[in-house]
Order: sequence, then structure tokens, then C-alpha cells
Amino acid sequence: MDERKSSRMYFIGKKEDLIQAKRTSVTLDGRDILIVYHQRVFYAMDLQCYHAGSTLLNGDIEEISNKLCLVCPKHKYKITLAEGEGLYRVSNLAEKVPTRLWYSKGVKQRVHKVTEVDEDIFVTLSDCPGWIESDYYQTEKGREELSKAQELDSEPDPDADED
Ligand code: FES
Repeated sequence: MDERKSSRMYFIGKKEDLIQAKRTSVTLDGRDILIVYHQRVFYAMDLQCYHAGSTLLNGDIEEISNKLCLVCPKHKYKITLAEGEGLYRVSNLAEKVPTRLWYSKGVKQRVHKVTEVDEDIFVTLSDCPGWIESDYYQTEKGREELSKAQELDSEPDPDADED
């Protein structure tokens, strides 16, 4: 990411308004960001899910292995709010009664820094170097792919019953 852009703090809004809203989406320097307020803490991450670009705006929040996770509404992938890690669960079939444990896939969703100054909330875009999977949906190619998928979703289903 551009170093100049990533070190800038963007004013998002008044703390009280963002608490009321609980979820807010904004575009900062062309990047779509989700701001979440949960259990007295603000979090910020890329708005589109790293898996297939669905918006995370209305994802539920669950605690998994002592980590708060946003659950993508589309395919239910779990993303830790603080780090952007993708979590997955596997069963150990070698056990008599298989236990299912959660593991990390590593950071998949880019998370951003939230700063509170007096009663104002600011976001600083992540300057974490290298590619993080959610970066794809912030590129021109990723956005094109998403808008094509949305067009297909909005086309009438030719097999649908007509009344
Ligand atoms: S788009 Fe989020 S889990 Fe598939």
C-alpha cells in the first residue's frame, strides 16, 4: 500500500454516533472499510470478505477459541475481528469420539487501526506489507468480478414460476 496514504488518520465520525450505528461502512482512499463497535471496542477491517467478496456488514459476531469473530453471511467463514485471521474447524477422526478443534489459516482479512481522540473516531489504513487475500476485492479486477456477480444475482431466474 502507498505509505503516505497508510499513515494518515481518517476521521470517521463522532464516537456516540458510531456506537449507536454499531456497524458503519466507509470508503477511504478507494478502499471499502467496515467499522464495528462490539463490547466497548471499535474494530476496522476490509468490508468485502476475503473468500468471495461478500459484504461483511451484517455478519454475526461469535466468540470462538476466546477470539471474537465476524461470521460472513454468505458462506459462514469466521474472521477474527482483531487480527483478520481466518479460522477453520477440523475433526480428528483417529479419535474414538472425534473432537472438533479450531485452527488458524493465518491473516486473510486486512484489519485497520482505530484511534479515539476525545469523542472522535479515526481509522488509519493498515500498512502491513505484502498481499492479504481481502486486498483482491479492493483492486479493479476484484471489483469488476463482484459487480458481474451482483448483476447475475439480480437477473430474473428463467426457471422461476410466473404468476
Ligand atoms: S464470501 Fe464470505 S464466506 Fe464466502
